[in-house]
Amino acid sequence: RVRAFASSAAAQAAVGRVAVIGGGQMGAGIAQVAATHKHDVTLVDVSQEALERGKAYMAKSLGRVAKKKFPDDAQAQGRFVDEVLSRVALSTSPAEAAGSAGLVIEAVVENIKLKQDIFAGLAAAAPEGAILASNTSSLPIAKISEQLSAARKKRFIGLHFFNPVPQMKLVEVVRTDEADQQAVDDAVAFVKGIGKVPAVCKDTPGFIVNRLLLPYMMESIRLLERGVASARDIDAAMKLGAGYPMGPFELCDYVGLDTIKFIVDGWHKEGKGLAGDKQFAPSAKLDELVKNGHLGVKTGRGFYEY
Ligand code: CAA
Ligand code: NAD
Repeated sequence: RVRAFASSAAAQAAVGRVAVIGGGQMGAGIAQVAATHKHDVTLVDVSQEALERGKAYMAKSLGRVAKKKFPDDAQAQGRFVDEVLSRVALSTSPAEAAGSAGLVIEAVVENIKLKQDIFAGLAAAAPEGAILASNTSSLPIAKISEQLSAARKKRFIGLHFFNPVPQMKLVEVVRTDEADQQAVDDAVAFVKGIGKVPAVCKDTPGFIVNRLLLPYMMESIRLLERGVASARDIDAAMKLGAGYPMGPFELCDYVGLDTIKFIVDGWHKEGKGLAGDKQFAPSAKLDELVKNGHLGVKTGRGFYEY
């Protein structure tokens, strides 16, 4: 059953339970924010260990939020963290999680085949009328959903969050040609209901933010490779000379170097209008770091050590 949500509160009530597939830095952040805004959430990952990591990420981040909310009251801080976490169930079964969800958000690693397989299972399990959404950074939404039924495609969209999810206000709502207006409206209402600001855009590579950010990141890496300056000086230059909160190498490490490599390799190979574009050609430095498992903050080492 498809219906319009008159307000954010109505969106909250209508979406009800949210299933988040993938409990890494993005999935855990999305689960946290949805639970903070009173949604019951099921967070899904491949193992109990991965789920525990996701839970630890949420607990740490909620602790920061709680400190600001209740500056002089450690007990209230603890109660807030526990209350939000009590709304997040952990599961290793995507089908079980989707079975009772009004909205399913996928945030697994940036791999088209994996995402397509996951959505085939989710489409079989989710209630009719549920919104299915991907948090992909760079893959075409229409390609992720290409094997689904026409009815599912109408309610399939991109919901692209930004890292760190609890802090970044924007969510890109990505509409395919097949999505209906109602699904977009419902997604916009959900985004507003969790305290974020939606930007609706077309299903093109990188949507808005990454289409502008990735050329900047890659050109920064090339500056380093050409020996123009050190990573530290390039970072200092962009923070102090252009007012960016993080320098490009800090940001690359923060996003995850594997994710950046997935994005640029995909676009260079087959991005619509971008295939062969030298901006996204492989970088020896980036390839070497990823090959050695230095993926940035999440592994303790990337361009910098943490
Ligand atoms: N959870 C909760 N709160 C957090 C947080 C987290 N994980 N991380 C930071 N914060 C909060 C802090 O508590 C602090 O709050 P107040 O200002 O209210 O006290 C605030 O954020 C600032 O944090 P810090 O003082 O610790 O550090 P900072 O000033 O350097 O800010 C930052 C951290 C918000 C991450 C900032 O550096 C920043 O905006 N960096 C750029 C991030 C960015 O560009 N993200 C987009 C990446 S691209 C992407 O996500 C898309 C993709 O597909 C790849
Ligand atoms: P991550 O590596 O931190 O997390 C990915 C998670 O997916 C891991 O916990 C992994 O165990 C889990 N996973 C892998 N296969 C799975 C499966 N079959 N079922 C369930 N879980 C599975 O990655 P991330 O940074 O959270 O990125 C996730 C997605 O979000 C990617 O599509 C990425 O492009 C996108 N994204 C990333 C950022 C960013 O800044 N890192 C920003 C916006 C969007």
